[in-house]
Amino acid sequence: MTSKANQQSREIQRLANILYFRSGVFQNTEWMGVKAAKCPMDMWVYQELMHRLNVDLLIETGTWLGGSALYFAHVLDMIGQGQVISVDIQLPDDLPQHPRIEYLKGSSVDPAILEQIRAKVDQASSVMVILDADHKADYKYQELKAYADFVSDDNYLIAEDSVFDFYPAWPEFGPGPADAVQRFIRERPEFVVDRNQERHMLSFCPAAFLKRTPARSR
Ligand SMILES: C[S@@+](CC[C@H](N)C(=O)[O-])C[C@H]1O[C@@H](n2cnc3c(N)ncnc32)[C@H](O)[C@@H]1O
Repeated sequence: MTSKANQQSREIQRLANILYFRSGVFQNTEWMGVKAAKCPMDMWVYQELMHRLNVDLLIETGTWLGGSALYFAHVLDMIGQGQVISVDIQLPDDLPQHPRIEYLKGSSVDPAILEQIRAKVDQASSVMVILDADHKADYKYQELKAYADFVSDDNYLIAEDSVFDFYPAWPEFGPGPADAVQRFIRERPEFVVDRNQERHMLSFCPAAFLKRTPARSR
């Protein structure tokens, strides 16, 4: 492609992501009858990564109605192993129940919650983390720092909803996950932005699939 064609295709992708996000369709996206506020393209990529990396612990902050936790549990069912930990400051009474899911109630950066998660991480061999709680930049940055060491080498730390301030699809929101990721990766060079995970073109996590690379670790 010529550089002009490249520029045009990047602009089409930017506008498509803004259009998709601003349609609000994620508020009516369901997994097995339970709402999951996700971009389905990201869900597809999550199952690809979980299978490829043989994930046996999926940590999610931000449970909401439990649709994403149920999705991850079903993917682990198909892989044949693993647990989901899903943390939220508020947990509704009618969350989907599944033997692979453990819900934790509290702030995702509360030291008591982090201690419980650490105990699970110590028992696991392939850990992926998806941060989908509070999306303000300062909070997401705190979460990135708190959860980074839980992630296994070659696995992913994902800052959901960088679409807010990356394209930006929601400029009114102010600094969000994309801002937090920029700050975080400057300090933690072993985490590399893997934009190949946006190859399906629509994503709520642009430039926020962070791969932990052992060669550059520590
Ligand atoms: C975007 S929703 C999560 C969507 C869910 N993962 C899904 O895909 O359906 C964000 C959730 O984060 C929770 N939340 C907000 N601040 C939080 C915090 N400090 N710690 C943990 N959860 C928080 C909210 O209660 C809300 O349920």
